[in-house]
Amino acid sequence: MRILSGIQPTGRLHLGNYFGAMKQHIELQNGHDCYYFIANYHALTSITDPAVLKEYTLNVALDYLARGLDPQKVAYYRQSDLQEVTELTWLLCCVTPMGLLERAHSYKDKTARGMQATHGLFSYPVLMAADILIVDADLVPVGKDQKQHLEMTRDIAIKFNMLYGDTFVVPEPRIEEETAAVPGLDGQKMSKSYNNTIEIFAEGKELKERVMAIVTDSAPVDAPKDPDTNNVFNLLKLFITKEEQAEWRQKFTAGGLKYSDVKKRLMQRIDETFGTAREKRKELAAHPEKVEEILAFGVEKARKIASKTLERARNVCGVGK
Ligand code: ADP
Ligand code: TRP
Repeated sequence: MRILSGIQPTGRLHLGNYFGAMKQHIELQNGHDCYYFIANYHALTSITDPAVLKEYTLNVALDYLARGLDPQKVAYYRQSDLQEVTELTWLLCCVTPMGLLERAHSYKDKTARGMQATHGLFSYPVLMAADILIVDADLVPVGKDQKQHLEMTRDIAIKFNMLYGDTFVVPEPRIEEETAAVPGLDGQKMSKSYNNTIEIFAEGKELKERVMAIVTDSAPVDAPKDPDTNNVFNLLKLFITKEEQAEWRQKFTAGGLKYSDVKKRLMQRIDETFGTAREKRKELAAHPEKVEEILAFGVEKARKIASKTLERARNVCGVGK
């Protein structure tokens, strides 16, 4: 089974990114043929400062490698290094109906929030289709917010195949339902845009401040409490076994529970989960040239398939030799 996913370099990764995407990506590397890339061309639709884009790109690479992505198992690369993708994008553009792109929720949401309506932002789903189709991916693990983009990829592939004969594998999405929305400090979906995140590589004082800022109600210690509406419990749940969840539920409903104890346990689990990765990240960050080597190795692996797919697509539509 060939798996592909892209990660936009748009800032420091948080627990929502971890449970909604990164964790699955890393788990899938065992037993599958995985292609993961840093979607810096997609990020160019929202980041216009070159230094920032470079910094975020390196950061995502460091985060994934430190947390356990194995570049020997996975082809890990930077989107802009695989030029075949942008060439394929044009071939796909020519079969993509305007109506399909005009229905994109993400484009409508982003422009409604004030982002400039550029051609890049509008054709974002076509670039995404090229990312996926270029390596003949069977399965694409993504968050719920990307579901429509995946449907568009399928529509574009089917349209191309109908017009020119079987050229592309039509991929299936894999949407993580259980952890579909990790809550943020305020209980809304955790997101950079809401400034309610806990970053996965935060530590010490910074981590403590974030965890202490998780919003709770002002019920007295003695009062029985509802775990399901408690933001701290809803985050802690992601880090602990079903048995430990049951113990905490019991403590919540019995009364006598201090929210600060739940926060302490959450902090401890965050430290246990990311402690080793933090150290590894510091070591890697001191050697960015190693990261470059890994990405160069990854793109060569991806190019082996991508060049064949592009050749096939060029030939069937009459622009090959
Ligand atoms: P943000 O909302 O912070 O800008 P992104 O949109 O860059 O995050 O998220 C990248 C991916 O991380 C998403 O496609 C999704 O899979 C995952 N993700 C982000 N936030 C959450 C969340 N709160 N819960 C679950 N998954 C999330
Ligand atoms: N648009 C995706 C996001 O914002 C990132 C992405 C780009 C992607 N190309 C992809 C994800 C191809 C999966 C497959 O999260």
